[in-house]
Amino acid sequence: MQFEFQFYRASILHFPKNTSQPDDNFNYFKDGLLVTHNGLVKDIGHFQQLKQDYVIENLHDYSGKLLIPGLIDSHLHFPQTEMIASYGEQLLEWLQNYTFPTEDKFQHPEYAALIAETFLDQLLSNGTTTAMVYSTVHKQATDALFSAAQQRNMCLIAGKVCMDRNCPEPLRDTPLSAQKDSATLIDNWHGKDRLLYALTPRFAPTSTPEQFAALAELAQQYPDVFVQTHLSENKHEIDWVKQLYPNFKHYLDVYDHYQLVRKRAVFGHCLHLHQHEWDLMHDKQASAAFCPTSNLFLGSGLFDLQQADKYQVDVILATDVGAGTSFNMLRTQGEAYKVCQLQGTRLSPLRGLYMMTQGAASALDLEHKIGNLNVGSEADFVVLDPAFNVLTDLRTQQHISDQGIESPQDVVFALTMLADERCVSATYVAGEQAYKK
Ligand code: GUN
Ligand code: ZN
Repeated sequence: MQFEFQFYRASILHFPKNTSQPDDNFNYFKDGLLVTHNGLVKDIGHFQQLKQDYVIENLHDYSGKLLIPGLIDSHLHFPQTEMIASYGEQLLEWLQNYTFPTEDKFQHPEYAALIAETFLDQLLSNGTTTAMVYSTVHKQATDALFSAAQQRNMCLIAGKVCMDRNCPEPLRDTPLSAQKDSATLIDNWHGKDRLLYALTPRFAPTSTPEQFAALAELAQQYPDVFVQTHLSENKHEIDWVKQLYPNFKHYLDVYDHYQLVRKRAVFGHCLHLHQHEWDLMHDKQASAAFCPTSNLFLGSGLFDLQQADKYQVDVILATDVGAGTSFNMLRTQGEAYKVCQLQGTRLSPLRGLYMMTQGAASALDLEHKIGNLNVGSEADFVVLDPAFNVLTDLRTQQHISDQGIESPQDVVFALTMLADERCVSATYVAGEQAYKK
């Protein structure tokens, strides 16, 4: 841990508070200075003003680059890293043919530990400092992921998948073992350093009512743990849930009956929701994870941002690797923009950025720690180079002068269309450099 002050000069952009109007509620310092101390943000402001208050010794000069809060990926699967970009199926066949066989390998803790390293390296090299992660059904694989994140001092939310039917036998737990293993993982990891736990039933088809009842008990016992699952991604999946749970009004009602719809609950996809499901999401302050590259890749459907806005449901961006096709959140934002274009709506560059920084943090009830660069927040941030290749240099150079970046909106937008991990110059976790290009 670094105890001395560290100084970062760059064009600095962040959203200091929860807002429904991110286009009007951002802070931007064209020639800015970020001061960190002891892993936290100590100060932020204009370089020329703030430099008078400090004896600047450790200056990291990122002039001409864009410094933003560390990105938050609200839904992805660590065991699916190696099966990203698997050809040709839609959700249910894709699970059978690729996902379950791959997740079976994680019965070996050493293998899980190996993939956890690659997975976290992918996050950090893409500028993602916090993620909400599905492990496999295996408790020890989940331990391996938490240990690797703890070593990096990351703020990571993760959970052991629970499933006791409709999957291969070796991947099944039981109501009791799911409850017991999840409780042990919560006791061992939730709130330890920067780690947090999410109850993780895979989705309604793979849990029996008995398993959900066991998880409902945990949800009540641990009111501040997170919840993550999939909801209404694919039409065949929805029909299947109707068959398996015939007495429930709709898909979300299954989760609601078992106390899983609440603040800090993130429902992946939400593509084909009924009005009453949107209403319930709103009433219970649950969030929807918008996973555009996954939805396009599996041919699942188009997320309806306008509908989410109408019902005032928090929407957060996510990759959903390995159905998602990139770890890169900027690129994910670019695909979200296109999904909105197909429906005649618009995702502004700043709203997209908000949905993976402050907006995600406030949906997850973590905005006092991450998602912004407010004084006192944990110093997770990323430095982006708008001119990382010849094309982006040409595209953005009109906006960049000696005093910094003139139009951050346009630069962010261009990066969402053209960027990949090559635009990440450096990623910092709790004030420490965790990745450097
Ligand atoms: N629904 C249930 N499991 C999964 C999964 O692993 N990925 C996606 N995209 N959807 C799911
Ligand atoms: Zn998923």
